[in-house]
Amino acid sequence: MSNGGERREKVGAALVVGGGIGGMQAALDLADAGIKVYLVESKPAIGGVMSQLDKTFPTNDCAMCTMAPRLVAIGRHKDIEVLTLTEVERIEGEPGNFTVTLRRRARFVDENVCTGCGSCVANCPVRFIPQPLDSIPPVKLAPEVQARVDQIIAEHRNRPGPLMPILQSINAVYNYFPEDVLRYVSQQLGIPLTHILRVATFYNAFSIVPRGKYIINVCMGTTCYVRGSERLMERFSDTLKIKPEETTPDMLFTLKAVRCIGCCGLAPAVMIGDTVYGKLTVKEIPGIIKKFQGANGHGQAHTG
Ligand code: FES
Repeated sequence: MSNGGERREKVGAALVVGGGIGGMQAALDLADAGIKVYLVESKPAIGGVMSQLDKTFPTNDCAMCTMAPRLVAIGRHKDIEVLTLTEVERIEGEPGNFTVTLRRRARFVDENVCTGCGSCVANCPVRFIPQPLDSIPPVKLAPEVQARVDQIIAEHRNRPGPLMPILQSINAVYNYFPEDVLRYVSQQLGIPLTHILRVATFYNAFSIVPRGKYIINVCMGTTCYVRGSERLMERFSDTLKIKPEETTPDMLFTLKAVRCIGCCGLAPAVMIGDTVYGKLTVKEIPGIIKKFQGANGHGQAHTG
């Protein structure tokens, strides 16, 4: 309350309520302007709805790519204090000098000790109830498949973090993860299948459905999109008679939309295998497809 000619001193701090992408950006803008910021979020972490999205409208850019730099900047900013699991209970005062009462709920984790390694999630007795191994019938693989997978597991199982190199080696052999192979790996390593599937479905380089020998990655990131990558996608789709994410019946090509392959200066860009086709035009597409078909003895590699 102000009375008479008394003027209260303004407080050089701001409270941002809500740690979604808007709140995060507001906190960064205020802090960069030299204002101490308290960022209040009722959930256990900032990020809001955007942290649950894969892509964002209208450009289909990767949501995490938009959010991650802001998360890091907020974590490092000396003038931003993040208050998670916290709600505003009462606001008193006037513009320039508010007093806010917050209620903070218990986290049940020692934030000074937690490194965010995620091991507690993998071993959580509430989410993952270990099943006695003898209650699950062992997965049977074809002898030659089992021999190959056993060899891969033996190469990596005694190294730290063996799952990723094992998955990479299996992917190099099959170009995707057959379900029974993943079940077998789960049983051999004693790692829950749910955890293996989380890894297997997270990375673009992995797939749990069969893919073609050549994966045509059409970049639909912002730079390529504004330079016409949508037309490239249509042309690939018309020529191969498949939609994005589909594979040709001869298992030669899989068509994929990806977000930024790291060569925006060459936009619009397409990557097939290790080869990048920069500043690509729709006219060049039939020739590129014929080249790959010819190299595999499919169709006619003639030029028009
Ligand atoms: S947006 Fe296409 S390469 Fe970056």
